[in-house]
Amino acid sequence: MRMWKAIFICVFGTTLWKVSCAVEQIPLLIWSLESSVWQHQAYTYEGHITTEDELKDVLQPLFKQNNRNIVLFLQDQLILEDFISYATHEGNAGPFQNLQKEIESSASHLILPAVNWRAAAKLPQYLQEEAEWQIFNVEQFPVKTFEANLTKPSLFIIKLPATGSIAPVLNADALAKNDHIMKDFISLLQASGIQYTAMFTASQPSVMLRSSLMTYHTGRQLMAVSSSDSVSFPPLNITNGTNTCIIFYATNLTLTANRSIQIDLTNFTFVANMVNYSASMCNESNAVLSLNYANPTSGINNLELRFLMSNNFYSGSARNWFTVDSFQILQDSLNAAVFNVSMSAPAEYSYSCQMVGTNINYGSQFVPANAQANAWIISFTDFQIQGFNIEGGLFSYASDCSSFFSPYIWMAVVTSFVLLCILAYGMLMIMQLTTNERFDDPKGPALSVPQNE
Ligand SMILES: *[C@@H]1O[C@H](CO)[C@@H](O)[C@H](O)[C@H]1NC(C)=O
Ligand SMILES: *[C@@H]1O[C@H](CO)[C@@H](O)[C@H](O)[C@H]1NC(C)=O
Ligand SMILES: *[C@@H]1O[C@H](CO)[C@@H](O)[C@H](O)[C@H]1NC(C)=O
Ligand SMILES: *[C@@H]1O[C@H](CO)[C@@H](O)[C@H](O)[C@H]1NC(C)=O
Ligand SMILES: *[C@@H]1O[C@H](CO)[C@@H](O)[C@H](O)[C@H]1NC(C)=O
Ligand SMILES: *[C@@H]1O[C@H](CO)[C@@H](O)[C@H](O)[C@H]1NC(C)=O
Ligand SMILES: *[C@@H]1O[C@H](CO)[C@@H](O)[C@H](O)[C@H]1NC(C)=O
Ligand SMILES: *[C@@H]1O[C@H](CO)[C@@H](O)[C@H](O)[C@H]1NC(C)=O
Ligand SMILES: *[C@@H]1O[C@H](CO)[C@@H](O)[C@H](O)[C@H]1NC(C)=O
Repeated sequence: MRMWKAIFICVFGTTLWKVSCAVEQIPLLIWSLESSVWQHQAYTYEGHITTEDELKDVLQPLFKQNNRNIVLFLQDQLILEDFISYATHEGNAGPFQNLQKEIESSASHLILPAVNWRAAAKLPQYLQEEAEWQIFNVEQFPVKTFEANLTKPSLFIIKLPATGSIAPVLNADALAKNDHIMKDFISLLQASGIQYTAMFTASQPSVMLRSSLMTYHTGRQLMAVSSSDSVSFPPLNITNGTNTCIIFYATNLTLTANRSIQIDLTNFTFVANMVNYSASMCNESNAVLSLNYANPTSGINNLELRFLMSNNFYSGSARNWFTVDSFQILQDSLNAAVFNVSMSAPAEYSYSCQMVGTNINYGSQFVPANAQANAWIISFTDFQIQGFNIEGGLFSYASDCSSFFSPYIWMAVVTSFVLLCILAYGMLMIMQLTTNERFDDPKGPALSVPQNE
């Protein structure tokens, strides 16, 4: 009886919590044509909800940069899932495709997945007070032209059409329409030669969760990659004797040593089988992919590439995450060149990225962590790797580096969900505590408690 009550409260409490608490945060996306406005992703660590003060802090650089024009796109309501809910496995990136392209091509950007919605709602007012703007309120679409005095900083507040109904398909269309409006407006600004910083958020969180958060698949599967490319060779399989435990794929593996010697390892690795991977190892918590090449180019007798991976349980998100932590290059008997890597995916998935390497513009960057590493330029194309939980010798779904929200951001969001759920459950259980109905009276007869309740 008591158990049923507890289960009921948990289920009911979780539902109640989802409706009441889950919608307290809104994502905020900021992108600028000016580079290095934000050096790092501030305030996006696990489970963090950006507060009003932190938001003001994050916005400060905007008022100091040269181009002082700000475009604020406001939707009526928005929830993090809007960015991925309607994405399909076939590579449809969801309703905000133009926005994603815009952000990727911007010189610097900042994605805050969870901003306190009251802070976000005050944003238009806050911006207006912060500088001497000429303010443009735009509510009619399409916008054909506007008259801005380019000598003064301008603040464009664009109220996007309401996304309205809760029915998922209608919503996807409404979101996609807003995506187009944003694109058109940005094109108009660019055509007028106006430099700008843009923001996208909402004045309210969505009232309803539009679909289940816990299931998400991003990116594409390997077959989609190889069928669309002219190069086609199978991925490299590493077994622990019985089972496949690491799979690795790339359509181009190129290293450049000392800025002059280019070493193309693609054919050695995937076509000619001139790679010795016997030093690779794997178990449930760690995996090392070691690729050893003899005489890959004149002047180098031996070259070894190492990917160090780990599989860890994060109690916050209540799941395992697979990460590639480090990449190393060992040339002959020289010291290893070590690079820090931050690639991660839920442990059941593979990780993929179109371009990885030392270039700062790549989807995932290898950051030199010692002096030796500075001698190397790395460039891997159509990179995909999985070091854990491989089933049937094939890649699992890929968590792609170019999808809107990186796994780290997901980790943060999922964490806050789980923690709040635990808290809500605990609160409800405490509320269920009752005091004894009867107390022992030392003078009276001994209290008897019926055992068969
Ligand atoms: C633009 O603003 C500046 C400074 O306020 C002013 O001097 C100039 O006349 C304005 N130009 C136009 C075309 O209104
Ligand atoms: C990897 O494993 C798959 C499935 O077992 C197999 O089809 C493929 O030929 C293997 N590739 C290599 C390079 O061993
Ligand atoms: C290889 O890995 C599988 C699954 O992780 C495990 O069951 C098996 O014992 C391992 N084999 C060896 C030789 O370590
Ligand atoms: C890999 O890329 C390099 C430089 O981008 C190029 O020279 C090389 O031919 C490519 N290799 C393959 C196998 O496509
Ligand atoms: C790069 O330069 C260093 C120092 O001059 C040298 O030791 C190393 O062998 C060079 N690497 C290659 C691949 O030639
Ligand atoms: C790789 O091998 C293929 C097939 O053997 C060949 O056509 C191609 O030219 C080679 N590429 C390089 C960069 O060696
Ligand atoms: C591969 O490397 C291991 C040591 O890492 C070595 O024992 C083995 O002989 C090498 N295999 C070939 C074919 O060179
Ligand atoms: C996996 O391998 C690593 C590195 O060799 C070792 O430190 C760790 O204890 C191993 N874990 C298990 C579960 O065998
Ligand atoms: C690389 O990672 C290590 C360990 O996490 C850290 O101490 C070091 O500062 C990092 N180096 C760079 C250049 O990021």
